[in-house]
Amino acid sequence: MSLYSLIRPILFRLPAESAHQFALRSLRVSLASSVARNAVSRRLQSEPFGKLKRFGLEFQNPIGLAAGFDKNGSYVRELATLGFGFIEIGTVTNEAQPGNPKPRLFRLPKDRALINRLGFNNIGAKRVAENLRRYPPDCIIGVNIGKSRSVAIADAVPDYLASFEAVYDVADYVTVNVSSPNTPNLRTLQQHELLAELLSSLQRRNEELSKRGSLKQPKPLLLKIAPDLSESEIESIVDVALRTKVSGIIATNTTTSRDGLRTSIDEVRACGEGGLSGAPIRDRSSQVISFIYRNARGKLPIIGVGGVFTSEDAWKKICAGASLVQLYTGFIYEGPGVVKRINEGLAEIMRREGFSKLDDAVGCRVK
Ligand SMILES: Cc1cc2nc3c(=O)[nH]c(=O)nc-3n(C[C@H](O)[C@H](O)[C@H](O)COP(=O)(O)O)c2cc1C
Repeated sequence: MSLYSLIRPILFRLPAESAHQFALRSLRVSLASSVARNAVSRRLQSEPFGKLKRFGLEFQNPIGLAAGFDKNGSYVRELATLGFGFIEIGTVTNEAQPGNPKPRLFRLPKDRALINRLGFNNIGAKRVAENLRRYPPDCIIGVNIGKSRSVAIADAVPDYLASFEAVYDVADYVTVNVSSPNTPNLRTLQQHELLAELLSSLQRRNEELSKRGSLKQPKPLLLKIAPDLSESEIESIVDVALRTKVSGIIATNTTTSRDGLRTSIDEVRACGEGGLSGAPIRDRSSQVISFIYRNARGKLPIIGVGGVFTSEDAWKKICAGASLVQLYTGFIYEGPGVVKRINEGLAEIMRREGFSKLDDAVGCRVK
């Protein structure tokens, strides 16, 4: 029995957001002295997977922390010690904003799920960048950027550009989030023309900034999409992504659907609006991943996210076409040991299935 399985019932008795803050602070205290030790153990994990080169970056292992857990980049050092191959912070917006009124985060234990309508609560892109500059982590860091709530969709481009510039030199990659259900109309930015304008503007600025600095190469720019899209909408997104040369797609964000839940309708209704994550979105996110993989003919690296709790779940995402995997809800339900367990389990599955490199398994079940 893990320590977390003893602590979890206590944590789960607290309101979900208070438990989250409490867990982060406890992590800081308990890991204060073990940063160096764990940095060594992390390095050992890369071996079973072969070289994991993705959009110009080399990953120690394929398991990352999804956006939304560390909105302000305040805990990256502690989180890195848990063995993540990469950590995506944010969503950050150009303007600091408090997010929606509380309560805004709910657990659905019968479904191993969460519903959230946090609404991009964050201290603003510039201050987040300062956090990362002050405590540079020993881990690949993605910064996820979104639109400030006060800014109209018509003015989204300059708002994203301001966040992009603010985080440019502290991010190893930048994710463009157009898929959160909790900022009104944000998801309309997934429409062909709006998306093309947003991504090409960001890529132009990317090019300019890379010439100014020592990088000489544009920063990997990824796009995060919703699970609630039709096949033709995904096709159109893949087309824009390829044309604007984004480095990859993150599939998927949370869903607005409430289909197929075990939790009673009344309990679900009581949570109100928000994005559903965890086990109920596992299959849908894998479908989206294989659809993208097939459509882009493997040319767009995919980060698979949605309902990953175990190494088997991560393996299914890889076989569906994901070359990296992230989790959030699984981390809440399974605790900090889950990262190591998934990595070890994945290495075991690869051996069992006869793969010596993870790269050879990516998309292996896509027809
Ligand atoms: C409480 C919570 C907050 C989230 N905040 C963000 C966010 O700010 N930006 C984002 O792109 N995704 C956010 N997500 C979505 C996750 O990154 C992930 O895409 C989604 O939850 C599916 O993965 P999971 O089933 O492993 O949780 C959030 C998810 C949760 C549960």
